[in-house]
Formats: sequence, C-alpha cells, structure tokens
Amino acid sequence: MLEIDDIHVNYGRLQALRGVSLTVAEGEVVCLVGPNGAGKSTTLAAIAGGVTPHAGGIKLQGRGLIGMAPEAISRLGVSLVPEGRHVFASLTVAENLRIGGFQRRDRSGAAADFERILSHFPRLRERLQQPAGQLSGGEQQMLVIGRALMTKPRLVMVDEPSLGLAPLIVDQVYEILLSLRQSEGLTLLINEQSSKRVLKFADRIYVLRGGRIQLHDRASNLQDGKAIMEAYFGFGEHPAPAAGSVALGGVAR
Ligand SMILES: Nc1ncnc2c1ncn2[C@@H]1O[C@H](COP(=O)(O)OP(=O)(O)O)[C@@H](O)[C@H]1O
Ligand SMILES: [Mg+2]
Repeated sequence: MLEIDDIHVNYGRLQALRGVSLTVAEGEVVCLVGPNGAGKSTTLAAIAGGVTPHAGGIKLQGRGLIGMAPEAISRLGVSLVPEGRHVFASLTVAENLRIGGFQRRDRSGAAADFERILSHFPRLRERLQQPAGQLSGGEQQMLVIGRALMTKPRLVMVDEPSLGLAPLIVDQVYEILLSLRQSEGLTLLINEQSSKRVLKFADRIYVLRGGRIQLHDRASNLQDGKAIMEAYFGFGEHPAPAAGSVALGGVAR
C-alpha cells in the first residue's frame, strides 16, 4: 500500500531523515520506534505532505505523493493523528468529531460514519455533549483517532498515541486501534518512543535513529527485545571492549 524509498528531509542545515525506506502492506500494523529526535514525526509528515523530501520517493498504491498538497493526500485516504492529542477544548466531543468530516461532500455518509465510529468508542458516546477539554488524556486520544476516522481514511498514521498515558489506558487505545483494523479494514502506521507495547501489537517494527532505519523485522522475530535495544541505542557501533575488561556480574575463572 505504502512504499517509501530512500527519502531525505532537511530542516535548514539539519538532516532529519538521511535515507529512510519502509513499506506498509494493506491491513498491516507497522510501528516506527525510536528515541526522541530520531525522525519519526518527520517521516509521518513527509507521507502526509507536511514536509517535502528533497530526495527519494513515496508511493501510495503506486502513486507518487511527493509534491502533492496535504489536502490532496488526505483525499487519497491518508490520515495523520499528530502527536499531542490536539482537541478543540471548548467544543463538545460531538463537534470535535464532526469537524473531522467537514471536508466531505457526502453529508449522509458522514452522518452514518459518525454513528459507526461512536460504536467503537463507548466512552466518547457517553460524553458527546461535554467540552473536549474535560476529557481524560486517554479519552482525548480516542477522540483524535475518532476524528481522523471521519475523513474515511484507509491508512491511519498515529504519532505517539501512548505519550503520557497510563499503561492500562495505552492498552485500551491499542485494542481499539486493532479492532478498527479488523472492522474498518484500516492499515496502521504508528510512531512510538517505547518498544514495549509495540512488540505486543505490531505486525512489523522499524527502528529509526539519527534519521536512518537501523533495523526492521516482524515483531514476532524481535520478542526478546535485544535487537531492538541495540538498534535503538546504537550498541555495536563502537568496537567491543576487549574480553575480560568488563565484568557484568560474570564469574572470573
Ligand atoms: N520544524 C522543525 N524545524 C527544525 N528542526 C526540526 C523540526 N521538526 C523536527 N526537527 C528536528 O528534526 C529531527 C527529527 O525530529 P522528529 O521527526 O520530530 O523526531 P521524533 O519524532 O523521532 O522525535 C530532530 O533533530 C528535530 O529537532
Ligand atoms: Mg515525534
């Protein structure tokens, strides 16, 4: 569905992406993991048309996206849920959701989607007339995901959904995302700083650091977490210490 081929993005003289390639197949849940500043948000912004790579290619179902306006990319079925849970705090939950569909021309379709989306988020349905600013962090995360669904996307990209949420709430958010994949036929590309949850929920994982993909594999092949940690922190880039020079709880013989 999505094919990113060796993209490079600069902010002025800072090289944020130095050759990122990744693919997402239809129906997959792919997670992009990496430390702060790795280039995760920039990668999603490049897909959504928010920044323009100066080299490389991005294709959605074979169609080149680089140079297209964000609105045009959105109309192709790509939706980005930015980091930070930006709700319109003084508007109600219902109004926040409807804003997601305001660009749509099919009013009756949007109304039907509003109901269907709410069926995935019982907590939001209970709070439809409350100002969004009164919701908990987890509820706000669900609201921004629900709002993104109002554009009828096929590829949903979520930037750091678990940031600042309690582990139990993070699990709930992921369980909803996975159930949406099933029932709405969504494809998901999710950024995370921590690999913990991602190992449980992703089909495949890419580790990004310093603007480069350091590792990618099926989550099932990464379960012990060791390879991810090495890629994440960059162990193994320096010469290994001489044998015997470090004792990590080992017994001298
Ligand atoms: N709008 C911007 N202007 C200048 N530098 C930026 C901007 N956005 C991000 N950067 C820099 O680009 C690099 C990658 O950032 P980002 O994609 O936000 O990483 P991540 O999402 O993995 O934390 C970082 O060094 C960051 O400081
Ligand atoms: Mg980020």
